[in-house]
Parts: sequence; structure tokens; C-alpha cells
Amino acid sequence: MCGIIGYVGPRPAVQIIMDGLRRMEYRGYDSAGVAVVSQGQLVVSKKAGKLTNLAAELGAHPLPDSHQGVGHTRWATHGGPTDVNAHPHCSADGRVAVVHNGIIENFTVLRRDLEADGVVFQSQTDSETVAHLLGRALASGLDLMTAMRQVCQLLEGAFTLVAVDAQAPGRIVAARRDSPLVVGVGQGENFLASDVASFIEHTRDAIELGQDQVVEITPDQVRVLTFDGREAPTKPYRIDWDLSAAEKAGYDWFMRKEIYEQPQAAADTLLGRIDPDGRLRLDEMRIDRARLRSVDKIVIVACGTAYHAGLIAKYAIEHWTRIPCEVEIASEFRYRDPIVNPSTLVVTISQSGETADTLMAIRHAREQHAPVVAICNTNGATIPRESDAVIYTHAGPEIGVASTKGFTTQIIACYLLGLYLAQERGLKFGDEVAELVRQLAEVPDQMRRVLAGLDQVAELARGQADTRSVLFIGRHVGYPVALEGALKLKEISYLHAEGFAAGELKHGPIALVEPGLPIFAVVPPQGRDSLHDKVISNVQEVRARGAWTIVLAEEGDLEAGRWADCLIELPVVPTLFQPLVAIIPLQFFACELAASKGYDVDQPRNLAKSVTVE
Ligand code: G6P
Repeated sequence: MCGIIGYVGPRPAVQIIMDGLRRMEYRGYDSAGVAVVSQGQLVVSKKAGKLTNLAAELGAHPLPDSHQGVGHTRWATHGGPTDVNAHPHCSADGRVAVVHNGIIENFTVLRRDLEADGVVFQSQTDSETVAHLLGRALASGLDLMTAMRQVCQLLEGAFTLVAVDAQAPGRIVAARRDSPLVVGVGQGENFLASDVASFIEHTRDAIELGQDQVVEITPDQVRVLTFDGREAPTKPYRIDWDLSAAEKAGYDWFMRKEIYEQPQAAADTLLGRIDPDGRLRLDEMRIDRARLRSVDKIVIVACGTAYHAGLIAKYAIEHWTRIPCEVEIASEFRYRDPIVNPSTLVVTISQSGETADTLMAIRHAREQHAPVVAICNTNGATIPRESDAVIYTHAGPEIGVASTKGFTTQIIACYLLGLYLAQERGLKFGDEVAELVRQLAEVPDQMRRVLAGLDQVAELARGQADTRSVLFIGRHVGYPVALEGALKLKEISYLHAEGFAAGELKHGPIALVEPGLPIFAVVPPQGRDSLHDKVISNVQEVRARGAWTIVLAEEGDLEAGRWADCLIELPVVPTLFQPLVAIIPLQFFACELAASKGYDVDQPRNLAKSVTVE
């Protein structure tokens, strides 16, 4: 999400901060801003849009010389991407400026209290609340470090904060909970940032910070305390890569990086949407409850990978809500005169929020007076703007053209929507929703376990350099996983790859099987009706005809192991959640194979990240 940086030292702060922001722009590019202290005064410059807009502004109106400042590049969550919503945000007295990454979940309550005290807010952000709380604490006589500690104890949610006080020369204070923050330790200068990429050209010595810690840097010192004021041990380390890798945060490809970001992206997409009692809270659902209750059909419309997320969502939504759910490719939907009316809920899924066919499908649905919910990863994009409601996937910017974390967070957002409908329509008891939500919240950790075991997949991919065709099979939610696995391979490895419903094999595709043909099979968890055994039978059928089987099955599935030439074990998860872990090895296989062939993994030929023409 957002990129944040703080600097104290002898060099020109504005330049150091702008260079750092440039290397973190992948984290968000809705707006950018800088605040520096000069002669006891705070000076702020901020601009909506990409960093180049801020650079132009600074060219036209340079900030004064300074050796202490903070900067931010934003991926908007609360409040649109405008100049006023850009960070840094300042306290009403202009004494303190703060930049923030994360979401302050209880900001509505905090803001109401501050407004009752007469504070006038300038922006729609959750972050400005922190600036005013810090301002109030400083005005009461606290120093910045103590003020930050006290304010953090009032905050709920995930955050990294970096603040600068006009009355504290040569000092920057930051705090972190559930969002990244690292200290860069230089010679007579120090840095704070979301990502080491931003200061790697100045130092490769860094300090890792723990949860719920506050850090104060001066040019010569780094001091770390816990939120409750105890000295905290620090973990210094040496960064073992250099500037050339910085843009991709140490990864050689954005896609690989994005595959590894999936646990965090999934957790961020769940963040703030589950009450402590397990009840779902979708504050963005601006469609009233009566209207949701009258829905008698759901139509999911999307393109590419987002369409596959929709295919998976259909199984869960119908199961949980018993509302019939259709899934359609956006470019087909508009031209077939679909039956859509005011009681049809149209759900569009789009990572970019700009896909032309999906946008047109929305316009068509709205002409028929159907309510539209967008599931989208890009704040303020056209698709959410033109929809009645939006559920954002908080995956952060996805730069690799082949979607990975976009896909898994779309599934999670669809699942939240399905459970929310079941909850609001009284179709599930509160404890049933709470149990499903609890299981969903375990998925990020289960994804981490899959990621930790990918060496085997890398080796598998390296051995497939001469393969010309790969098939993927699955049933139930495993079928769209097969489609998505094949799409990844087509997109970046330029291989012929097809996904099939395993039950359809005998109706044609099995004729393609010849000795040595690699076939990936997604085996459902054991014990789920007869699905598991049916896929195992399909694996046996293709193996009997000479196929080379790569079987994805849950740990301990001995039966699946018997028929696997290569077995990829998955954590034990409920059937409906299996796609969230099963897709990861398939994404990684495609990425590794493309990389081993020397292809451009992030920018594959003939494709674009966002398709804005029909
Ligand atoms: C393009 C991208 C795909 C993406 C599809 C839909 O084809 O290459 O990765 O799945 O568009 O994009 P959207 O932004 O609407 O999710």
C-alpha cells in the first residue's frame, strides 16, 4: 500500500525523501507529499496523482533547505485521491505533520470526539485523526516520542506512522503495528521507511522493528520503546542486495514478489471487516438491507483472472445464500440481452477498476435498474465510481501483468459478500457466519505455509523447459483453479495450456493425452462427499494413458499420493477455501517456467495490465 519515509541528517532532506519515494512508488501512486522542518516551522507540499506531479510542484515552488522531514506516496483507502487527502497531514496548530500507512479502524469515533472538541478536519482520511491527536498531546507538554506512544494506544487497526514536530529539531518519531517499518542506519544520518528500497543507496545497515513499537531517530541515535514505554530490543541486519534490485523490493520480478505478498494481501482484505464477535461489517455496502433482501438472482461479471475468481465465488455464494448465481464474461454479457432486473444483484470483479467490457456491463445492468456491487483493487477507479457499492480488495498495487494477489483477494472479497448476504438475509445463524469467518481468517497463515514449500515447484518448473502443452483438471472449486492455472501458463510462459472440468475428460479432452503429457490435478479435501474419490479416478485414467501427473492434494492424502508422479501437498482447509492455497503453486510454476525460459515475466508479449478498450 502506501510508501512512507523519514530522514534526519546533514544532507538536503527534500531530495533524499523524493528519491526514496520514487523507489517506493510501486506501493501507491494516488498522491504524494513531503513535510520538512525549516527554522522551527513545518513546510508541506503535496499533490494528487503520481510522484511526477509532486516533483513538478516542488520544481515550481521549492521547499526551503532542511535536514529533517517525512514523505509519503499514497494508495488511497479512506478518502479519494485528492490534494487534501494526500499525506502528510498536520495538526490544527501546524506544529506536527504525520504520514500513515494502514487503516485506523476506529477513526470514526476518534474523529467525532475531536470534532466535538472543536477540531476542524481538512480531509476525509482516517490518517488526519492521528495528526490532531498528536497535536493535542504535544500541546499538553508531552515530547513527540511520548505523544506518539500515547496516541498509538488509542488506535485500532494496522498502521505505520512517521511524524515530525516543528519544535523538535533533528528528530523523527515513528510507530508500527501490523504494517511495515524499518530503520536505515547511516553515518551521521538515519532513515525510517516502509521499505529498505527507499534508502538502499545510502546505507545497507538496517534495524527491524517489532510489533507495537515506537522509534525515535536523530542523526546519531536510534531509540526503540514499546507502546507502554519499555526499552525494546532491536534487531540490526545487513541488507544483502543493492540498489539495482530495489525497485522490486529484492525480487527479480514483480510477479514473484506479488505471489509472496498474498498472505498479507489476504489479511489486509479481511482487516476491519470482522467484528470481535465474528459478525461481518461491510461499511462500503451502500445498498440498503431491504434491497439486499429482495435479491432473487446474482450475476457476476468479469474478465480474465477476475472471471475465474467469480467462477469460484459462485460455488460459495450459492451454497451459503441459496440465491441462484450466474457468472459471465463481461464481453459476452452485454451482447446477449441478459435477463437482469431490479431484483438482480450484479457483482463486477476487476483488479484495475478500468476494464472496458466490465464497465460496459455495469452500465448495461444499471440501465435495467439492477443494483451493482464492484469488487475492485483500485480506489477511485471508474468501475467502483459507477457502481452502487464497492468492496475493495486491499491487495496493494499489482504491477505484474499476470494477476496473482489480485485473484486471491478477489475470492476473499466475494466470500465476504456471500457471507454478508447470508448474514443480512438471516440465512445463517451468527455463530455459523462467525465460524466460517474464523476459518477464512486462518487462510493467510495457510498461504504462508504453501509459500514456504515452493522449492519443489521451482525444481519442477526447471525440468519442464521443453514441454509444449500442459493440462489442468479439477472438480467443483478445483475446476476454476484449473482454468486459472492454465491461464497463468499461457500468459507468461506462452505454452499451450488448458483447464478442464475433470468430469468432462471422457467427453473429449482425454483424447489429447499422450505419454509424458504433464497434467496438474487439483484434488479436493478428503471426506467431502464423493468429489475426492472422483478426481482420484480421473487421475488414474490419465495416468493409465501415459500422462505425467502432478497432483495437488491435502497433507496426509495417501490415496492421492499413490497416483502422483509428483505430489504437491496443501494445508488442510475447508473445500471452499482450497482455491486460495491451491492456486499458489500453479502461479509459481508459471512464473518459474517463464523466468527459466528467459521471458519477461512482468510484461508478457501482447498483453496489458488493464484493458481499457473493447
Ligand atoms: C487483463 C489482465 C488480466 C486481468 C484482466 C481483467 O487481461 O492481463 O490479468 O485479469 O485484464 O482485469 P481487471 O483489472 O478487470 O481485473
